Amino acid sequence: MRMTALTESVTLEHEGEGPARVAVITIDNPPVNALSHHVRQGILDGMTQAAADESVTAIVLICAGRTFIAGADITEFSSAPKPPSLQAAQVAMEDCVKPVVAAIHGTALGGGLEVAMCAHFRVADAGARFGLPEVKLGLLPGAGGTQRLPRVTGPAKALEMMTSGEPIGSAEALECGLVDEVVSDLRQGAIEFARKVVAEGRPLTRIRDRNDKLSVDPSLFTDFRKKIGAKTRGFLAPEYNVQCIEAAVSQPFDEGVATERRLFEVLMSGTQSKAQQYYFFAEREAAKVPGLAKDTPKRPIEKVGVLGAGTMGGGISMSFANVGIPVTVVERDQESLDRGMAVIRSNYERSAKRGSISAAEAEARLALITPSVDQSEFSDVDMVVEAVFEDLDLKKQVFGELDRICKPGAIMASNTSFLDVDQMAAATQRPGSVIGTHFFSPANVMKLLEVVRGDRTDDEVIATVMTLSKRINKIPTLVGVCDGFVGNRMLSQRRIEADRLLLEGATPAQIDQVIYDFGFPMGPYAMSDLAGLDIGWNASTSSGSTVREILCESGRRGQKNGRGYYVYDAETRASTPDPEVVETIRAFAASQGVAQRTVTDDEVLERLLLPIVNEGAKILEEGIATRASDIDVVWINGYGWPVYTGGPMFWADTVGLPEVVAKIRAYGERLGGRHWDLSPLLERVATDGGKLQAATGA
Ligand code: 3HC
Ligand code: NAI
Repeated sequence: MRMTALTESVTLEHEGEGPARVAVITIDNPPVNALSHHVRQGILDGMTQAAADESVTAIVLICAGRTFIAGADITEFSSAPKPPSLQAAQVAMEDCVKPVVAAIHGTALGGGLEVAMCAHFRVADAGARFGLPEVKLGLLPGAGGTQRLPRVTGPAKALEMMTSGEPIGSAEALECGLVDEVVSDLRQGAIEFARKVVAEGRPLTRIRDRNDKLSVDPSLFTDFRKKIGAKTRGFLAPEYNVQCIEAAVSQPFDEGVATERRLFEVLMSGTQSKAQQYYFFAEREAAKVPGLAKDTPKRPIEKVGVLGAGTMGGGISMSFANVGIPVTVVERDQESLDRGMAVIRSNYERSAKRGSISAAEAEARLALITPSVDQSEFSDVDMVVEAVFEDLDLKKQVFGELDRICKPGAIMASNTSFLDVDQMAAATQRPGSVIGTHFFSPANVMKLLEVVRGDRTDDEVIATVMTLSKRINKIPTLVGVCDGFVGNRMLSQRRIEADRLLLEGATPAQIDQVIYDFGFPMGPYAMSDLAGLDIGWNASTSSGSTVREILCESGRRGQKNGRGYYVYDAETRASTPDPEVVETIRAFAASQGVAQRTVTDDEVLERLLLPIVNEGAKILEEGIATRASDIDVVWINGYGWPVYTGGPMFWADTVGLPEVVAKIRAYGERLGGRHWDLSPLLERVATDGGKLQAATGA
């Protein structure tokens, strides 16, 4: 058997003789067989040669490595397209007079699935997954996928797949006709399938010619838009994907493809898709730690301890149990333990009721969590996560105790939101094994994990925790020690300015609306009410010196007692602005000598977002964050900054740094405050005509 190299990533070989002679085109373009130009060229050349070779009866397209083609090469998006086009390779497959079989393992995503849909047949192994995830990059499938997928699966399923970007598995693909056969030995199975097709003389149907599933009631689209409206608020791409499927059912194939091309170009040239593509790489970069050797040893984490079963400890325990890691959770007394375990149980029961996991799975996960009031149960855990009250003295004491109990080598992590991890490390004999793991609330749901590197944290411990983060399905970002780390330190600056705006005459509802309209899930005051207005509030020291203190003193606790910055309906939890709160703020402003006025929405937005950008630049300059893009990853995953604007650093670039700098200066002069002191790094990058998103830390 002779193998011919067609390009640097594609080979052609032949299997069998006579009517059993099958050409096998193999793509090998690590890491994910993306459709780089040499792959497109290889498919085209392979198809042309195999089609012209009279001895060949059928053609199999298969990939080496971990996956089938995972899509277009995203790194090529920013440069001019290099021939041949993907369409040329697709036409060569679709119009071939010999059967073409795509053999799929791993993930057939985006352009990968669009290529596979140009084969006459698709076989896959049981673990393969199929999807059009372009929407996650702010795009739509641009190689005929929007017109072919609905022809295979029907428009309803295509709507789901294309607007969510989520893949389906082999079994579902077989059921909806996307796959013709599931085989165990992919290469051999695909070759045998091809031979069978030849022997049976099966017709070679092109998906583009199929119209059998396209008759639908137009209400499908109206209803679907309603269904996804809230989830896709602010995003352009989901709507454009829907329009393409409407085109598929109402226009002939070629016209539909023209519609797809037109809408694709609009998205591709827009800011949203640039932001989402930037985010795709930012998330992957964030997991990498500069200076940490790839082969840094990692400690095995087979069993974990969590101290404190409150709001965070419960969610953290679930995050481990959800991926099969046994957890021992320890509380200070039986009553607190029972309360914490009851919340965990009810969360699992709710998931089972909603159908996101089975009842048996919920029980299995719960069974992995062992409750206790005895810290000595931590003697055999590989890592303990401390989630007790936010009190440095308490944390130092607890770290000293845990150090005596935990076995040598066990990692000790703190979930503190603001406090100094180095001081906790100093309370132990193992400062190298101490690290921060700052989960976000609710910890079992939120994806972000700020991994806080202490002054003395060992590389091995950093490597272990970064890897563990991925294992528990979190998006890790390595940050340094400072008050509030990256996210909360920046958030605090926003809060200072929001509270000032309240006194000047903006209302909680106005501020929240502006932030919501920018694309956040909620504004600062709705968030306070949700978290509990009294978090960090102390009745014995409260002196009516802020709006929040006054509200807490008057018994307002936020959503939990139905009254906070808003009032809440007991049944629906719907919020309504409360004139009493507006009056409280007005009276307080008057007592402080602050004159109230009408504040414009534009001013609200600038005064809330610009301090975030400015603080981010300072954080970068101090080396608390490694890269600007890490800060964007924190804000998108920890606070719901809309990914289609790329995060605060990317957003500042799109506004234009000279304008950002001028506005920060002007507000600083007018309003004063450390958070308006211009970051020297920001000033420098703006003066140099550079981009904040590309800036790196100290
Ligand atoms: N282009 C270029 N590089 C890609 C890529 C792509 N489409 N997909 C992944 N990579 C790179 C990643 O950046 C990463 O590089 P690194 O190791 O240097 O950081 C490497 O491949 C491995 O990726 P992951 O870390 O994500 O590996 P996983 O195993 O966790 O996931 C995956 C693999 C499921 C394939 C995931 O990478 C993924 O979802 N990729 C994107 C798929 C996608 O969006 N495809 C559609 C592209 S757009 C398109 O096809 C347009 C068309 O319609 C014309
Ligand atoms: P919480 O008050 O809900 O829970 C703390 C729990 O710790 C309580 O159940 C308490 O009984 C227990 N506890 C106190 N001392 C203990 C001890 N010595 N031994 C065992 N258990 C003890 O507080 P929450 O919100 O869960 O916060 C915990 C930590 O997580 C804090 O450091 C906080 O800053 C941080 N955090 C909180 C977030 C939030 O949104 N609530 C978000 C991210 C971090």
